Amino acid sequence: MPKPLPDTNPTSCTSWKALTHHKKSIESIPIKAFFAKEPNRLDYTTFSWEEFYVDTSKNRWDKKTFDLLLQLCDELQLKKAIDAQFSGEKINATEDRAVLHTALRKVESSPVYVDAENVIPEIKKVQEKMYAFCDKIISGEWKGYTGKPITHIVNIGIGGSDLGPAMVVEALEHYKNHLQLHFISNVEGDHHQEIVKDIPLETTLFVIVSKTFTTQETLSNANSIRQWFLKKAPENAISKHFVAVSTNIEKTAAFGIAAENTFPMNDWVGGRFSLWSTVGLSIALAVGPSHFKNLLEGAGKMDQHFKETPFEKNIPVVLALLSIWYNNFWGAESEALIPYTQYLRNLPAYLQQGIMESNGKSVGRDGKRVNYETGTIIWGASGTNAQHAFFQLIHQGTKLIPTDFIGFKKELKKNPDHQQKLLANFIAQTEALMNGKTEEEAALELKHSGVSQTDIDQLVPFKVFEGNKPTNTLLIDQLTPKTLGALIALYEHKIFVQGVIWNIYSYDQWGVELGKQLANVILSDLAGTAVHQHDPSTTALVKQLKLK
Ligand code: F6P
Repeated sequence: MPKPLPDTNPTSCTSWKALTHHKKSIESIPIKAFFAKEPNRLDYTTFSWEEFYVDTSKNRWDKKTFDLLLQLCDELQLKKAIDAQFSGEKINATEDRAVLHTALRKVESSPVYVDAENVIPEIKKVQEKMYAFCDKIISGEWKGYTGKPITHIVNIGIGGSDLGPAMVVEALEHYKNHLQLHFISNVEGDHHQEIVKDIPLETTLFVIVSKTFTTQETLSNANSIRQWFLKKAPENAISKHFVAVSTNIEKTAAFGIAAENTFPMNDWVGGRFSLWSTVGLSIALAVGPSHFKNLLEGAGKMDQHFKETPFEKNIPVVLALLSIWYNNFWGAESEALIPYTQYLRNLPAYLQQGIMESNGKSVGRDGKRVNYETGTIIWGASGTNAQHAFFQLIHQGTKLIPTDFIGFKKELKKNPDHQQKLLANFIAQTEALMNGKTEEEAALELKHSGVSQTDIDQLVPFKVFEGNKPTNTLLIDQLTPKTLGALIALYEHKIFVQGVIWNIYSYDQWGVELGKQLANVILSDLAGTAVHQHDPSTTALVKQLKLK
């Protein structure tokens, strides 16, 4: 197996050891006290880049922490790793693949080589095919088998072939055209039946998206829908209503999809990083090629920032280092992500695949079990809804949950009153999480509301907020295809930096294979075509289903 990335246990680094000592020396200092100690704290903790203002000052760190974390990047040769990724080296070593979703959104067209072949011309060719197809569908030039223009798009895919397109289509609702988009992912039959029951067959286009074209869920759904379609439409209507996105052109052909209706993708695009490729076809259909290009441009600009900016000013690097700091030195188990817009309500779910499928690994690049924590758990929901759901635990629970707050200065539909309230909440939460409320403040507040001293004495412990809860604030001008592209790319690079530091392979996903294999074994048990030996619990469960 080639080893294009450095292979160093991070705990062996001088800076790692120094960080362990350093943490002890600052752990009792509350975040708010750092502002008094460091009059210029905002100089090194805030970043202005394009339409982004990122504030990392409300964290349990000081300049020394920052410098030691930067030293860690140097000791672990982060720069070399970044260059290896962008130049097409096969850094996904366990699958022997390059990792080049960045090539799909390059803002300039210098060559990128994979196996000595420049991949840029082919990328452009495929993009042109995709855009031309989108134009035909959107304009109504492309007709269904009865001669009517397409009105509905159904994306059939799962994991990276669903989450990215679904999240972005929802996020860019404001920029959408007349086409109605639906997403079928789960193998559960009820899910696809709920969707097909309301769609007009004559004017619906089905986009089957599967990098491998072997995924059980997607193929089952695609086959069932084709059968449903052929109950009403003739066989030759398939070419007007089914297109595919895949690396596996043989299998798409075997499914009955003609080459001109197949949009290829490359094995150097990982599923969870694929919305920039033809996997984004549903996005390009929903918002049109020009907005899709802006999405790519925003991501491409973030790529440039990541690749070219010194680490101390590099937003994805700094956010990754903070995450390492809490995960490995403070024992934080999870991170929350709260976008203050309903449009991004599914960003946490999307990033769960990106972050947890990438960095949920326990074997280092040396092939040995790691002796430190990796992969953060990511969760969240939109603000302000989240404030009325789980914020209680972040404010007053026992767990340390570093939280990213993502907000936009300007709303998309004119509604200044609501926008101001939204942003007031957005900022107030980070302030409250940092400052908390002392016993004295809580007692005074109760006194002012006329509560008796006896009740004050009993109530105060419950009204205290310890504060000192770390947050990052990402304040962005407005939610546009371009800023969204940059935001997603930012988190992609954060994932990569963490993987490099943890000395793991971020771009494979062997951990999802075992469940897939065993599902096929159980399927044959349930179908009665085989009888396998299982543990007593599993045997009893299989029996329960056979009795139903
Ligand atoms: O479940 C794992 C996975 O391989 C993901 O990484 C991927 O996004 C998803 O399955 C779908 O795979 P495909 O696009 O090949 O159908």
